[in-house]
Amino acid sequence: MTLLAPPRDAWYIAAASSEVARRPVSRTIFDEPIVLFRDEDDRAVALVDRCLHRNMQLSAGRVVGGCLECPYHGWRYDGAGRCVAIPSLDPGVRVALPEIPRYPTAECDGYVWVWMGRDEPGDPLRRFPHLGERGWTTFSMTTRFPAGAFACLENFLDCPHTVFVHRGWFRTRDPRQVRARVQRHHDRVVAEFVDERPARSVVRTLFFPAGTPLCHTDQFVLPATSRVDYAFRTNRHFIITSECTPVSEHETLVYTVITFRYRRLGALVRLVFQPMARFIIRQDVAILGLQTSQLRRFGGARFTTVETDLFARGIRALWTAAADGRSASPVSDDVTIRF
Ligand code: FES
Ligand SMILES: [Fe+2]
Repeated sequence: MTLLAPPRDAWYIAAASSEVARRPVSRTIFDEPIVLFRDEDDRAVALVDRCLHRNMQLSAGRVVGGCLECPYHGWRYDGAGRCVAIPSLDPGVRVALPEIPRYPTAECDGYVWVWMGRDEPGDPLRRFPHLGERGWTTFSMTTRFPAGAFACLENFLDCPHTVFVHRGWFRTRDPRQVRARVQRHHDRVVAEFVDERPARSVVRTLFFPAGTPLCHTDQFVLPATSRVDYAFRTNRHFIITSECTPVSEHETLVYTVITFRYRRLGALVRLVFQPMARFIIRQDVAILGLQTSQLRRFGGARFTTVETDLFARGIRALWTAAADGRSASPVSDDVTIRF
């Protein structure tokens, strides 16, 4: 991975809990091949995806009685990464073998998380806001982005691109300007938009009543989370949280959870909002794919950052500080954005 990557000492989502079922699941996180499966106690386990015998991918094998069986010669491994059977040997024969390295795992909010740090897990697990609470409706999406985590996070929190990439869906060009107060804290960067009125768009027509002031906040949270809040009237609130799991320099798995309070209309709003959210995400996948192909063609990034790139400097500062094992210093800025 390049220098500009999220810190390793953190929990990352490896898969939805429902994906880790009968078959082993193959994942790459920070360029490391990982196999996930459930042990005999039904706990999700993550091991390095490599058989001790001839290096086969264990994720191409199967799960038998809570053990992972290699597809090549059938060696079996338990949830601790210990080899418990070598079928070609007489059962009495003992072979001294190391354990396959294991990643600490946890299961929460419907996802299997892995700790990618070198040391023991430190931070508590991040939770998705208002999940399963009364009055809140939720749906989730998993998207493979052909782009690094920085490009993804910047995109999810970027306003100016919405006028162009999502023309008409979120915003149309208009003469308004919006003020944002951007604050950098030790673990997050928060942009609060002041006196924002919903712009003319499909989203406004469907979900935001005309003329109602909007409370809009965008946040980047360490290590690689974006959160967007839209609240209006007293009781209506949309929260879009995206957890980025770095696969490699130019690939990211993004787990997005959309939770909203829309009273009794929750199910109806979901019916309309879900396909629309997928459509909008596909537009971002396409534009980020193009950006990545440019980064490859030109052999790296040459960015010009302006003040309306609200999060670029903050994300960079927090990641650099985390890599150095220190806390970034607080910064506050007022920025005007034109659409
Ligand atoms: S390579 Fe796994 S059992 Fe031989
Ligand atoms: Fe976008």
